[in-house]
Amino acid sequence: MEACHYSPFTNHQMKTFYVTTPIYYANSLPHLGHLYTMIVADTIARAKRQRGVDTLFLTGTDEHGINIERAAQKAGRTPKEQADYVVNYYKKMTAEFSLNGEHGGYDIFMRTTEPFHYQGVSEFWRRVAKAKTPKGNTSIYKGHYEGWFCAACAAYKTEDEYQKPKTEGAAPTCLIHDTALDRISEDSYFFRLSDYDQALLSLYENRPDFVRPESRNNEVMSFVRGGLQDLSISRPRTSVSWGVPVPDDPDHTMYVWFEALTNYITAIGFGNEERDRAFGFEKYWPALHLVGKDILRFHAVYWPAFLLAAGVELPRAIVAHGMWVDPSGRKMSKTLGNIVELDVLSRHFPVDAIRYFCLREMVFGQDGRFGYEGLIDRANSDLASGLGNLSSRTLTMISRYCGGRIPSGHIPEEKLLLAKRTGVDTDETTIAGFIEHARDQFLQHFENFAFSRALEVAWSVVARVDKMITDAKPWDLAKDENQKQTLNAILYRAAESLRWLCVLLYPVMPGASGAIWSQLGLSASSAATDPAQLKWGALAEGEPIGDVKPIFPRIDKAKTMAEINQGTEPGGIRATQQDGVTGAATQPDTKPPPPMEHATEPDAIAAAEGIASIIEIGDFAKVDLRVGEVLSAERVPKADKLLLLKIDIGEEKPRQVLAGIAQYYEPEKLISRKVVVVANLKPRKLRGFESQGMVVAASIGEEGRPVIATFTEDVPNGTRLK
Ligand code: MSP
Repeated sequence: MEACHYSPFTNHQMKTFYVTTPIYYANSLPHLGHLYTMIVADTIARAKRQRGVDTLFLTGTDEHGINIERAAQKAGRTPKEQADYVVNYYKKMTAEFSLNGEHGGYDIFMRTTEPFHYQGVSEFWRRVAKAKTPKGNTSIYKGHYEGWFCAACAAYKTEDEYQKPKTEGAAPTCLIHDTALDRISEDSYFFRLSDYDQALLSLYENRPDFVRPESRNNEVMSFVRGGLQDLSISRPRTSVSWGVPVPDDPDHTMYVWFEALTNYITAIGFGNEERDRAFGFEKYWPALHLVGKDILRFHAVYWPAFLLAAGVELPRAIVAHGMWVDPSGRKMSKTLGNIVELDVLSRHFPVDAIRYFCLREMVFGQDGRFGYEGLIDRANSDLASGLGNLSSRTLTMISRYCGGRIPSGHIPEEKLLLAKRTGVDTDETTIAGFIEHARDQFLQHFENFAFSRALEVAWSVVARVDKMITDAKPWDLAKDENQKQTLNAILYRAAESLRWLCVLLYPVMPGASGAIWSQLGLSASSAATDPAQLKWGALAEGEPIGDVKPIFPRIDKAKTMAEINQGTEPGGIRATQQDGVTGAATQPDTKPPPPMEHATEPDAIAAAEGIASIIEIGDFAKVDLRVGEVLSAERVPKADKLLLLKIDIGEEKPRQVLAGIAQYYEPEKLISRKVVVVANLKPRKLRGFESQGMVVAASIGEEGRPVIATFTEDVPNGTRLK
């Protein structure tokens, strides 16, 4: 079966694909935020390559401008030395996190101080300067700029973008960085952005996929509808000397954003023949620009306007992700001193666990709170106990029961009845159909940058296969020679499912995918297997498997947390009991605790910590929480939020429970899932159906996104939670 999911990004006629990250300021060392964008871009690039598309992945550093000049001065270096210092660190970091070319990561590390960039960007300026705007005016003109500028943002700030000073005569401060702005009053070249409003609006309207996700498109459109001001695109050399001179007017330095954005085309040969021969502007342009939402305006408004002026094709898309924020909801940044250091991450966590966590935990496009505890929990539950355990139990059993060779998946006619008696589904197409459907959904979510949902789908496969093994009890089948074929079939299905998982998960976890792949004894590689072309049953019977080794070591939480806490600088993100991860949080939770009447002291403490009031153990004992298994799940007609579940909680008859989770969970995915049910809740009727209990779920963020509570270990239905 072929996957059927086509967006402008899955155009299989497309011969090449070009993905970029922002080029990072060379004023300070990278942190988790920068790593995150690279991980996402790397994942996208790998997914494209895996599908056979000739892919180019660009990252690099933005090395000019006043903020680099100042950082260099502070560190007693020249600006170039400062840039070299930061670039060295980037190179070391990308190698450590397997993001460089050697590990199948980026193809070009761009540096804006390279001569070909000077040449390309000068050519670009000239083209823009020659152009007429859509309203028939010159695109660039000389004028005078008077206003405020944030060196850290490298951006001019209007009144609604800064905090007015508390004392008269002082400078206002940047809302993002909390640092004083520079007053600027100087001659400058301007780009006549105000003439591009209509052209930009029709671009967004005609190409709804140009800015992604959709919410960001709306944001950009309303910004442009609000009116565009012309943009200062140069600084006098006397104010900023570290940059590219304006062609034919060396007394002016190009505004760093004008120059930096152009890197996306100069890197592949715009304005420089030698570079063009090496990479190919025509071959790869236009690019998909992956950026943080913090720099969306530069990419979705200014950059297309510059390109329109220069007569260069517009980017394929601008895809903006959310920000990693600290436990109090502030964007992680060096200036605020709340960063997650890459050294700490690489010292304590395997690369694949970090990649998995970043993609699984951050709902793409929204902000995410980072906590080391959340990372450890995910690594232990989803990776060590989940995928890792599935892989090692399957392969260990193949080695023990099948002489270390892939067994046959076929149950002969005469053994079918016998197999059926054990409760095993004799029809192999059931699991094959399930996994094919999951593959299609996975790829579709991937195309929509919904990595978190894609991974949820992959883990529904892990859960399904795990359950198949647990139900079939291969260790019991192995005791009965007559059940040899049943045992083989179960292990074949598990191994074949693992093969599919390796292929699906390759872009996210290249290391682990490759390791499981070779333990399955497969040649070629999961990196070169197109997931859309997977066919059930290609795992060849009789082939020897490889050495079985653990893939994801379990992380000792207490020990790791103690080590991290000891090493964390004051002001950095400290790992505490409270700093779990909430993927969907976009705003800091600054709501005051609710007013308390007759509050006791423990109540007051609890409320101050944002938790419900204190209860006695007896109060808790009144709630009868039971482990259940979802037997069926379906949507309730005319109620788009409700699912009707039948749950086995160890009673004679399954419970019928209505759950308000339909917008977040596909009914099919819930089948066989272990859940927690409030079993002694008074039954009530909803939409004509009686609900005989409640499913327990976490409620995330302001929208209250439900995440169903479950178990990583096998727990019998009906078990009471205490
Ligand atoms: N130099 C400009 C970009 C020029 S592109 C032509 C710049 N550099 S930056 O060093 O500040 O990097 C910004 C980017 O780093 C963000 O857009 C995002 O991709 C990434 N991140 C930095 N901090 C981040 C978080 N706290 N969370 C997620 N990503 C973050 O802007």
